[in-house]
Amino acid sequence: MDELVGSEVICKTAEETRAFGMRFAKFLPPNQFVALVGDLGSGKTTFVRGMAAGFGIHAAVTSPSFNILNTYSGNATLLHADAYRLDGTEYASSSLMLEDFLTEPYCLVVEWPERLHGFLETCDFIITFELSGKYRKITAKKT
Ligand SMILES: Nc1ncnc2c1ncn2[C@@H]1O[C@H](COP(=O)(O)OP(=O)(O)OP(=O)(O)O)[C@@H](O)[C@H]1O
Ligand SMILES: [Mg+2]
Repeated sequence: MDELVGSEVICKTAEETRAFGMRFAKFLPPNQFVALVGDLGSGKTTFVRGMAAGFGIHAAVTSPSFNILNTYSGNATLLHADAYRLDGTEYASSSLMLEDFLTEPYCLVVEWPERLHGFLETCDFIITFELSGKYRKITAKKT
């Protein structure tokens, strides 16, 4: 995990972003909360597709923008949330309520975590996605 965390990785294609997500998931300890921070189209969902592969999940991962949360079973349960459409009102503390429903081992990964009140403060890893020309610069940090 050490070589994956802290350093910037330049991903030149969606396939490289996916491969990084897969590598990250394979090294991730069980029962982690992961925040994906980055602008629209910066590669967050692509990264989650790779994470799913890393957990041995074969189902197609789609963006949960409209249904907020998708779950997939593999070597761990992957819960993929997209808080883009939450705006910091009453739904916003749902990250904390979610803990009651998690069956181990799990990984909860959240796009637009800034909109889920309290999530950035409680998560285990923050992955940052930056557009750098036509490439993506991805940084994984342990909190
Ligand atoms: N490293 C990369 N280089 C080029 N294109 C990429 C790269 N990573 C992802 N993409 C492409 O960028 C587009 C947007 O990616 P993706 O849907 O993963 O972004 P997102 O951060 O989830 O966006 P949103 O905030 O809208 O959910 C996709 O077409 C994807 O294939
Ligand atoms: Mg997305």
